[in-house]
Amino acid sequence: MAIQEKCRIEDHKQVGPRHYKLTLASQYLASHAQPGQFVNVRCCETSDPLLRRPISLHRIDAQKGMIELLYEVVGRGTELLSKKPVGQELDLLGPLGAGFKIDPAKKIHLMAGGGMGIAPLRALAEQVTGRGSRVAGQAVYILIGAKNKESLIGEDELRKTTDQVQTATDDGSAGKKGVVTDLLLDFLDSQLSVTSYPLSVIYACGPRLMLKAVAEIARQKKIDCQLSLEERMACGIGACKGCPVKTVSGYKMVCKDGPVFDAKELVWN
Ligand SMILES: Cc1cc2nc3c(=O)[nH]c(=O)nc-3n(C[C@H](O)[C@H](O)[C@H](O)COP(=O)(O)OP(=O)(O)OC[C@H]3O[C@@H](n4cnc5c(N)ncnc54)[C@H](O)[C@@H]3O)c2cc1C
Ligand code: FES
Repeated sequence: MAIQEKCRIEDHKQVGPRHYKLTLASQYLASHAQPGQFVNVRCCETSDPLLRRPISLHRIDAQKGMIELLYEVVGRGTELLSKKPVGQELDLLGPLGAGFKIDPAKKIHLMAGGGMGIAPLRALAEQVTGRGSRVAGQAVYILIGAKNKESLIGEDELRKTTDQVQTATDDGSAGKKGVVTDLLLDFLDSQLSVTSYPLSVIYACGPRLMLKAVAEIARQKKIDCQLSLEERMACGIGACKGCPVKTVSGYKMVCKDGPVFDAKELVWN
């Protein structure tokens, strides 16, 4: 169940040109949130911006009662958020939405993140691997893509969960030159046998065009796939009907029914 809570900022660091990592104390969120869920953050005390901003849970540490958010400053809300000092309290609503579903029958977990789409993958990888101590028989591969080397955020952190991390940048300044779906196709064609496809699952988060391409790859290869969608949101709880997405069973709300959907459910046109 989502609650509204004021959480103390325990740490707040700049980790990239416009990127920040925020550590917050919340035993409730750390104990109840699932990877792929998000919190709706009140970025300022005044009414501008009025609406909360949705940010994914980057890490969920129930033992320490802490959560981490990883975000990029893109506009007024995130700009105001980036100025919040350690020690101040931040008003959060969460955990919200439906996160990733981890099927114990799957042994090969392929995670693809584009841009800030990498944010929820750390929590997901930690859940699959049991916070870094490898679970026997489970393999986690993380593929990340960004515009350039400076925007490739979180790679070192993700390497703490698996040594199988591959990167791509649009301009070739780090990793392979290309996009994350190039990495995914290469990986499926060269490093995974067709017989292991039924034991595999793809999880992806990133821009819509990337997700559409990932869905198509998963469909062609007959691999299960879960996609975390990004939509502009207002209420974040399914009340305003402002974040519809077309699915095979009609329109659903990204904030409440998602943001994670089975790729087979989504209608892209
Ligand atoms: C479920 C969910 C989880 C998210 N998780 C993260 C995260 O972990 N880290 C992170 O950095 N960002 C995340 N986002 C995106 C984040 O919510 C937006 O960047 C933020 O709301 C922008 O607020 P702003 O006031 O700074 O910018 P605004 O002034 O509101 O917008 C600035 C620019 O960003 C675009 N924009 C704003 N919101 C979105 C959106 N939801 N999707 C696509 N473009 C948008 C606008 O069109 C505009 O061009 C997430 C979004 C959703 C829906
Ligand atoms: S943001 Fe209001 S219904 Fe999704």
